[in-house]
Amino acid sequence: MELKEKIKELNLAIDSAIVASKGEQESFRIQFLGSKGAVKNLYELLKSVPNESKKEFGQLINDIRSKAEAKLTEAESLFENSTETKRSEIDLSRPEEDTELGARHPLSLVRREIIEIFNRIGYTVSEGPEIEDDWHNFSALNFPPDHPARDMQDTFFITKGDGDPKKEMALRTHTSSVQVRVMENSKPPIRTISPGRVYRNEAISARAHCFFHQVEGLYIDKDVSFADLKQTLLYFAKEMFGEKANIRMRPSYFPFTEPSAEVDVSCTLCHGKGCNVCKYTGWLEILGCGMVDPNVLDACGIDSNVYSGFAFGMGIERIAQLKYRVTDLRLYSENDIRFLKQFKGAY
Ligand code: DAH
Repeated sequence: MELKEKIKELNLAIDSAIVASKGEQESFRIQFLGSKGAVKNLYELLKSVPNESKKEFGQLINDIRSKAEAKLTEAESLFENSTETKRSEIDLSRPEEDTELGARHPLSLVRREIIEIFNRIGYTVSEGPEIEDDWHNFSALNFPPDHPARDMQDTFFITKGDGDPKKEMALRTHTSSVQVRVMENSKPPIRTISPGRVYRNEAISARAHCFFHQVEGLYIDKDVSFADLKQTLLYFAKEMFGEKANIRMRPSYFPFTEPSAEVDVSCTLCHGKGCNVCKYTGWLEILGCGMVDPNVLDACGIDSNVYSGFAFGMGIERIAQLKYRVTDLRLYSENDIRFLKQFKGAY
């Protein structure tokens, strides 16, 4: 190809080269102006041009070099400037923008508070599985085989055990199953609380849900009395609801405790005077409890002639409802940010 043609071609190539980044700028430099680049190549070819044409061609090649250099300089200033402006825009002394922090879930707040209250009087925390066998959820807790709580209405059954309670699996209906596991696996004295999620086959409404949370309490030792139970629960009520709180116990029935009681706390709003929160009774129900039935102790390998104990169980949603006046259970699991935000900064 003639030198003239080559010069024309290079001219076009320089014009159409796209230099839109620092990387492209460097490849442009290497391709056209580098020591083995296209312009250098033209100067080589100039050597074999007859003397009388050298001036003319030399001029053309010089022009081409200037054109390539101009394009390179322009690109350099463009990218140089852009990084310079960016750098100068960053003010390293400026304080960071606030990151919006989330809030703890009200049920986590209440669970933690319950744990702390019982930790202070020597209770440890124990946990058990949410998928539980019939033995731990019912049989060891002295539920007769035909007890209505085993009914399809209440329990989410998973597998049938063909008569073996350790093979029949269900979602646990209460955290009392954990007290069985603790008694089977440790020796008295036992002082433990077991927070966790439980499941019941109920239609979801403001007042009922198919899953909710409980905390179970268990104390086993020699000579544990009902008076110890009452005192422990009074301590809990005062820590949770304030020094003014009082409790009362009403006789009740649970298969795993004898005697059994339900416990009310004096209304957290009117302190017993009567209001619409306590339906003008002055009291609010908070938990079930009782002395552990000797049948349960024996089923779990603890000698009921030597040891006695008490147990109690409460709903975390219920305590949260009384503390924060949340009257619709569904709010706890709907993740509505307007609800959750209200617990910002709460301890
Ligand atoms: N497990 C009971 C329930 O889910 C609550 C309960 C009552 C637990 C009395 C106890 C207890 O430990 O003694 O309704």
